[in-house]
Amino acid sequence: MNCLAFSTIAQAQRQRININENWQFMRYEGATDSLIYDIRPTDYNKKDDIVADTRATLETKATAVAFVLKPFILPTANEFIKNPAQHFVKPQGNPGANFPFVQSSFDDSKWQALNLPHDWAINQPFYKEGNAIVGGGMGRLPIQGVAWYRKKVDISKADQNKNIYLDVDGAMSYAMVWVNGHLAGGWPYGYNSFRINLTPYLNFGEANQLAIRIDNPPNSARWYPGAGIYRNVWLTKTNPVHVAHWGTFVRSKNVTRKAADIDIDVKIQNKRKKTSQVKVITEIYTLTKSLSRDKKVATTQAQMASVGADKTETISTTLKIQNPNLWEALPSNKQAQYLALTKVFDGKQQIDEYETRFGIRSIEFDAEKGLLVNQQPIKIQGVNQHHDLGALGGAFNRRAAQRQLEMLKELGCNAIRLAHNPPAPELLDLTDSMGFLVIDEVFDCWEKGKTALDFHLIFKDWYEADLRSFIRRDKNHPSIIAWSYGNEVGEQYTDEEGAALSKKLYDIVKDEDPTRPATASMNYAKPDMPFPAVMDILSLNYQGEGIRDAPAYSHLKGIRTHPLYPAFHQAFPDKLIFSSETASALSTRGTYLFPVTPQISAPVSDTSGGNPVKQIVSAYDLYTSPFGASPDKVFASQDKHPYVAGEFVWSGWDYLGEPTPYYGARSSYCGIIDLAGFKKDRYYLYQARWRPDLPMAHILPHWTWPGREDKITPVHVYSSADEAELFLNGKSLGRKKLGEYEYRFRWDDVKYQPGALKVVTYKNGQIWASDSVATAGKAYKLVLSADRNNIKADGQDLSFVTVEVRDEHGNLVPEADNLISFEVEGVGDLVATDNGNPADLNSFALHQRNAFSGLALAIVKSREAKTGKIKITAKANGMLPAYLEIISR
Ligand code: GAL
Repeated sequence: MNCLAFSTIAQAQRQRININENWQFMRYEGATDSLIYDIRPTDYNKKDDIVADTRATLETKATAVAFVLKPFILPTANEFIKNPAQHFVKPQGNPGANFPFVQSSFDDSKWQALNLPHDWAINQPFYKEGNAIVGGGMGRLPIQGVAWYRKKVDISKADQNKNIYLDVDGAMSYAMVWVNGHLAGGWPYGYNSFRINLTPYLNFGEANQLAIRIDNPPNSARWYPGAGIYRNVWLTKTNPVHVAHWGTFVRSKNVTRKAADIDIDVKIQNKRKKTSQVKVITEIYTLTKSLSRDKKVATTQAQMASVGADKTETISTTLKIQNPNLWEALPSNKQAQYLALTKVFDGKQQIDEYETRFGIRSIEFDAEKGLLVNQQPIKIQGVNQHHDLGALGGAFNRRAAQRQLEMLKELGCNAIRLAHNPPAPELLDLTDSMGFLVIDEVFDCWEKGKTALDFHLIFKDWYEADLRSFIRRDKNHPSIIAWSYGNEVGEQYTDEEGAALSKKLYDIVKDEDPTRPATASMNYAKPDMPFPAVMDILSLNYQGEGIRDAPAYSHLKGIRTHPLYPAFHQAFPDKLIFSSETASALSTRGTYLFPVTPQISAPVSDTSGGNPVKQIVSAYDLYTSPFGASPDKVFASQDKHPYVAGEFVWSGWDYLGEPTPYYGARSSYCGIIDLAGFKKDRYYLYQARWRPDLPMAHILPHWTWPGREDKITPVHVYSSADEAELFLNGKSLGRKKLGEYEYRFRWDDVKYQPGALKVVTYKNGQIWASDSVATAGKAYKLVLSADRNNIKADGQDLSFVTVEVRDEHGNLVPEADNLISFEVEGVGDLVATDNGNPADLNSFALHQRNAFSGLALAIVKSREAKTGKIKITAKANGMLPAYLEIISR
């Protein structure tokens, strides 16, 4: 069969068409459409600067006083509710039909034209006032309220016998979908992907009107959720008998380098009015590094099944693959993946073809040895990541996500916990291809809310559907090692009752995927409580190293525990323990405050480590949130308890919202990397530990302190070495060895003199690495550099352009805050600027930005099908400007 014929047949069976382009959008402030999902409470505490480990207790009640659309939306969940007796029945009627925005005839030409993914809030001005409707906790951007998206899609006459679905990868939040004026369904939880069956409402051979209403509540998260249809959207066309939505599960067992058994489940859905006999065959192919189909290595036996009208049946089989190429975790660069190509036949005629990517690997969770991947122990060197992409907001962009992961890989990080919600599907494609181990997490709360309008309001109706759909979508990804079905939930506090709810959720997870462990992260539950007993593996937040446990924390109120690794290990000798959150160390890149605490870990306060006026936290990496611990303290606790499988640092990158300790700011202080993607000093502290074979050394602070002459200015050095000697202007300030449970070299009594600081480090007595920093002069010139000088002309690809403020000799001017103007000419656009300062409340959309600690960032996007040069200019008063050219092809 030639290629053309093949693709025509494939198209006749199933098509997946991206429909991101050409939507009309309107934010509907003061919405008068009355098309609400449900009544929401209005009278509640709107404070959003609550300490993150506060017990979750909210059970906000609202009384319904008006007609709501919820009964029409709930049936969308039915596919994920196991017990048919609990399925929701759609009421008679078609609410909203009379509302103009859902009608084909409505003229939306005055609305904003745009392409998805889209985050309506990210380019807007920040709210600056103290009592803003969206405060620091949720990122100070106007995410709240109702908005509508409309698009016409042509459906040809030839599709008349097809089933046609709308697949939305994510819409924030409370999406409700009308098709040609019919309310077809919806999905409240903004992080899950969902499918709406459009078939009954379509006019074949015509343009069909889609209208999607979003209603994003304020006070609904502890971080920036984004707003709008912020991920990809697709139309899927299938024959009436087809592989169901996320209908395959391919997993490996008995894995060795010699052979592996592959279990394959295929769920066939019959949308016909009569029973269908089908034959199902799955072929297994190797994939190249770029994921194109390579060699066929195995084929299942043909299997026959009879699927009743409007029923689904699962067909299971196992096959053996000889000499499999295994999927390996970082630091290995071998992430072999396979394709399972499932073909469905009705008699001789092929009626569907469905692709599933998977990997062959074994994962074991050993209470003593920790995590084993393909029988090899791997220490988890992980970080937590929120979903936002800094100045680009919630709108998913593959390159921006890849850049985050690339910088984490360079750090030596090998694992990501997706805090606290399912990601864009493409993120998991990236973790698969790059070798990260992933904990995929679904909820931050259950029945007991953390903010007044969060998921707890809909938990009872949606928990099963959200939990099952989350696992069904993601379970073929080799990078996922475990499911987390909750983070620091309030049910930890309610003994048997909380544990019973946990068990209910746990059972759902295991029903969807018996091959991976299920867990929920605990910052409060203790070994003798019923809560941890439910989990397969023990996922501790901060409890391992102890909470408010060191001397500097003794005056604080809140949860207080001694290091609990030993107690958990003793109580659950067969369960693997790891820390799903550690540190919550805080810092603002490149800012240092004096005096510096002599402790190894201390809570930040307005008088120690923090400056409430500038809203900065000192970057000595010793200051933490009230329940946190410095990286050094965490490292020591991990090293003292070698059975602990590793840690996920809170957090890898800074994220929008939750700006502890300064809620006047817009973004967090806890990242190893700042919001713009600039490395904080801490990056090198983790790199020194996580990449012990990489010769590196890093000095802090910067050495430009006019006015501090002769004042104590501690110097710390992060290095993968075991010994270091510091020199100030050529004079040795002493050679130091790291003691047991020490992770940084400290010269705490250095008196500042301008000039040059240099460190020379040694490992096993041999010279290992060095670093130096010199006192900078006046800001003299700008220097531009791009993370990539060649990008793709696809309208999506990005170049991240850094501008540095330097003195005449090329030194970075470490406190430079000059206003820099950017100009972009040619075949690209400047989409956002940032500088990584959490307290900078200038809109990301502005083309000028103050440098912060000497740096600023411009994000440049290509244009679709426009190839050529993109020229970037950066200018600032009194300084030499800088130019850079990148190529879009
Ligand atoms: C944890 C919480 C995270 C984040 C972090 C901030 O308690 O699970 O979501 O809030 O604190 O330091």
